This record gives sequence, C-alpha cells and structure tokens, in this order.
Amino acid sequence: MRKKIVVGNWKMNLTLQEGITLAESILSSLTGIDDNRQVVIAPPFTHLTAIGSLTKGAAHVHLGAQNCNDNASGAYTGEISAAMVKSTGAEYVIIGHSERREYYKEDDALLARKTSQALDNNLKVIFCCGEPLEVREAETQNDYVEKQIKAGLYHLDGAHLRNIVLAYEPIWAIGTGRTATSAQAQEMHAHIRAVIASQYGKDAANDITILYGGSCKPSNADELFACPDVDGGLIGGASLKAEEFLGIIAAITRAQKQ
Ligand code: 13P
Repeated sequence: MRKKIVVGNWKMNLTLQEGITLAESILSSLTGIDDNRQVVIAPPFTHLTAIGSLTKGAAHVHLGAQNCNDNASGAYTGEISAAMVKSTGAEYVIIGHSERREYYKEDDALLARKTSQALDNNLKVIFCCGEPLEVREAETQNDYVEKQIKAGLYHLDGAHLRNIVLAYEPIWAIGTGRTATSAQAQEMHAHIRAVIASQYGKDAANDITILYGGSCKPSNADELFACPDVDGGLIGGASLKAEEFLGIIAAITRAQKQ
C-alpha cells in the first residue's frame, strides 16, 4: 500500500525562531497520523538541525531539505551537498521544484544528477514536475510532464525508484490561489503513474506516492485527496500557518486507504 504524505515546503520564509515556533505549534496539535501516513517539514537549510530536533520525537513526522547540489563535495561556495543534508537528520530532499527550474535555470540533466546524489546519500527524493500555463492552454501538458519524468528519473533502476516520491505541481497553480480541479489533478496523476508503469512495471507504479501541489488549502484538500491517484500534497503558502497546515493534514487522515 503506498504512503499518503503531506509535505510543508516553507520555501525562503521564516527566520529560525519563527520556524521553531511554527514547528512547535504544528507538532503539539498533530493527531491522527498512522503508519500509512507521513508529514514532512521542509524548512530552509539553516533551520534543518533545529527543526529536526523537534521532528525527531514525533511519530510519522520527517524532515526534508528543499534542494541539494549535484556534486559530492568540493569548491562550490555557498552550496549544500546531499551528505550535508543527510547529516542534519533530514530524510527527504525536494528536487526539481519549478522555482528552481525557472529562476535558477536547473535543467533536466542537472536534476537527474541531483537525484542520483541524493539517493547515493540515502535521502528520499521528492521529485517535482509540472507544466507552465501556456503548455496547459495548448493542451500538451501530458507530453511535457512525461518528458520531465523521463529525463529526471528514467536513469534510475527499480530499487532506487522506491525512494522517489513524485509531486505534480502545475506552475499556474503555485501561489496563485488557482488550484487544479480534482479532475485535472486526477487525469495528470493517472498519466504520471502510467509513465512510471511503462518503465518500471505496474507494481512499482502502483506503489509510488504522487503528491499534488499548487494552492492546496484545507478547503480543497479533501476533494483533491479523494482522487484515487492523488496521494497527498506538497504545500507552500498554507504550510506557513499551523492551523492551515494542520487542516490539510486532517484531510489526509480522512482520505481513504486504497
Ligand atoms: P502553494 O501551496 O503556495 O501554491 O505552493 C505550492 C508549492 O510550490 C509547494 O512546493
């Protein structure tokens, strides 16, 4: 049975003190998370160790980073390696977020290398894909996302795939308040699962967790998480407020086990 996961991607928000306060309020009110569900908190690098000391004691709550470098170590001033991320206690790393692809020009080849680095250092990868508005308007989003997945992940073998979580984030829905409809999300998630099945087989595709991201809130989370191929959410803005993030976590606890 595949895991249902809610990830809070804090992006470049909150000072260390603000982050600790937020994590404490989330953790003190968290209920209903069972063995088949997980919460991941992905704060900025600078907060990982401190937030990790809080998440360590919480059942089914994990720590994630938002990025890592594609090299193992060396003269890369300002960069953070996968081994460094792992050494903070983090278990996950987000790779290929559209903000990294767009603002920092991270291309498919770089993201494939980052993914390998992360897996080599025993991190689980939350691999993001998703189309810009003009692609959705041209109705070529399925091909676009398929290409991202093939370029980013198809170099991996089946054993490595077990440490991948996919996140579909249509760029036009990120931070815009315009969520994909549950039909749009379900259609793309089913397509992504078929793309995985064509390379790794039906069982692997059935086992992989596929998250939806893009203006997910407590008010739309139930409907999105009710889709058979939507296994949780990658949450930006709503993960910065304890009450909203807890509301989305509550929705994943209500979602039926498949
Ligand atoms: P919002 O939830 O703010 O739309 O952001 C989604 C996202 O990019 C999460 O990684």
